[in-house]
Amino acid sequence: EGIFHFQHTLAKTFRKVINRKEGILAIGGTSELSSEGTQHSYSEEERYAFVNWINTALEKDPDCQHVLAMDPNTDALFTALGDGIVLCKMINLSVPDTIDERTINKKKLTHFTTQENLNLALNSASAIGCHVVNIGALDLKEGKPHLVLGLLWQIIKIGLFADIELSRNEALAALLRDGETLEDLMKLSPEELLLRWANYHLENAGWKKINNFSSDISDSRAYFHILNQIADRLGCRQFVTPTDVISGNPKLNLAFVANLFNKYPALTKPDNQDIDWGLLEGETREERTFRNWMNSLGVNPTVNHLYVDLQDAIVILQLYEKIKVPVDWNKVNKPPYPKLGTNMKKLENCNYAVDLGKSTKFSLVGIGGQDLNDGNATLTLALVWQLMRRYTLNVLEDLGDGEKANDDVIVKWVNKTLAEAGKSTKISSFKDKEICSSLAVLELIDAIQPGSINFELVKTGGLSEDDKLNNAKYAISMARKIGARVYALPEDLVEVKPKMVMTVFACLMGRGMKRV
Ligand SMILES: *[C@@H]1O[C@H](CO)[C@@H](O)[C@H](O)[C@H]1NC(C)=O
Ligand SMILES: *[C@@H]1O[C@H](CO)[C@@H](O)[C@H](O)[C@H]1NC(C)=O
Ligand SMILES: *[C@@H]1O[C@H](CO)[C@@H](O)[C@H](O)[C@H]1NC(C)=O
Ligand SMILES: *[C@@H]1O[C@H](CO)[C@@H](O)[C@H](O)[C@H]1NC(C)=O
Repeated sequence: EGIFHFQHTLAKTFRKVINRKEGILAIGGTSELSSEGTQHSYSEEERYAFVNWINTALEKDPDCQHVLAMDPNTDALFTALGDGIVLCKMINLSVPDTIDERTINKKKLTHFTTQENLNLALNSASAIGCHVVNIGALDLKEGKPHLVLGLLWQIIKIGLFADIELSRNEALAALLRDGETLEDLMKLSPEELLLRWANYHLENAGWKKINNFSSDISDSRAYFHILNQIADRLGCRQFVTPTDVISGNPKLNLAFVANLFNKYPALTKPDNQDIDWGLLEGETREERTFRNWMNSLGVNPTVNHLYVDLQDAIVILQLYEKIKVPVDWNKVNKPPYPKLGTNMKKLENCNYAVDLGKSTKFSLVGIGGQDLNDGNATLTLALVWQLMRRYTLNVLEDLGDGEKANDDVIVKWVNKTLAEAGKSTKISSFKDKEICSSLAVLELIDAIQPGSINFELVKTGGLSEDDKLNNAKYAISMARKIGARVYALPEDLVEVKPKMVMTVFACLMGRGMKRV
């Protein structure tokens, strides 16, 4: 019943958007003048759709009642998001458990506690792969429309796309075409899969296929047939009327179709002996963290599948630039690649990426361009980790007047900071098994920002696995709340994964060095 209500609201939302477009209200983007005097326009249709989406999603959340329901016809959204609570909630909805809700400041907000919520939101958004490089807490507090909508769209999209992935939904294999293997399908982005899905239902309905979610879809008949296919199965055709004409906004159309897919995929997992289901291993935590890190830096194209999307090294080369290794783009073959010799072009890029790594003194023994091009997991991860590590250390060095940073420097700083604050924990290395309790991280956070940790929430003594995870969740969210852009996950602390542990302490050190 909840789903039907939801679907109904969505359909209504879109109808209203359309009615407005037909002239009840002027539409097509309004503009605001920023303080710098530059014009940023934003889409009223997007504001309208996102507001309705949030109103429905958080309808029953007791922590959001001070701003909900927002009026989609006004700029209420931009004020309502200014305290960070709704943003934190939406992030937690898109990727469950990203934010430990105990860390959200909810009552009697001050300038400082609002800032903390916004830090928590921005750093958590980054950790789930949103590109937030040009947005600050102040922009959100002031409710700059184009920035707020841009961030919201990323958060909503990540949630909508979460299950449009073969390893999470094997029925997607029903979209295989003649002569294709599961591997071919696995390479598709969520957008491409959705387009296939839409076309699968269109073809079944004997209708013309669509090529994209923008201009093609404004031909509402195509849409209507998708809806019919699904609605008929569920006996809920009443939600969409033939007079609905969907405007060509690609974001909203994508969201609309993604949501339909999530509610009613109407696909059956094929019973095909030839399909090698063993290929469908889900992404590891480490792979996901690397991917989110890259995407948060704004690499283009977005990385959906770590190995496949790195096979032409274009993203790797962009990452070199992020760590200040100059890339000669004249030496790089850029897509679209020619039909003939595509792989050779990609391989050349990969060879260049390995050469750059060697000149950067990365440890690349036994790694060749061919391995990246093949998508060899172990070897690709080895390079990607060195890029992320270098990135993390660069951030530290920039803060410390260029002084070289390494593991030892960080461990010493951690021990010293803990000791100076009178804390009892210390760490011997990033492999120290004691780290599994997260106590060292929590005490370090409290040393950096005294009084920030509520030790009543921290479990001590003989810790069960649940207790450890509980502490780790609190620690990761608190680190983000005090301003550290941490990508690691709570499980990385519990399992003491040295690489991710290193990034946690390095980010906290960076935050600690910013103390006045
Ligand atoms: C958000 O995180 C908390 C953990 O603090 C979890 O209990 C809750 O279910 C999450 N909310 C959503 C909507 O995922
Ligand atoms: C969408 O597809 C149509 C053809 O069906 C094409 O004319 C149009 O340029 C495409 N739009 C985009 C944004 O790719
Ligand atoms: C990846 O490379 C390593 C080291 O050369 C090799 O042992 C491994 O078999 C390769 N993996 C695949 C899937 O080819
Ligand atoms: C940090 O403290 C531990 C425990 O006292 C000690 O073993 C280690 O040598 C110290 N490490 C550094 C780099 O200071």
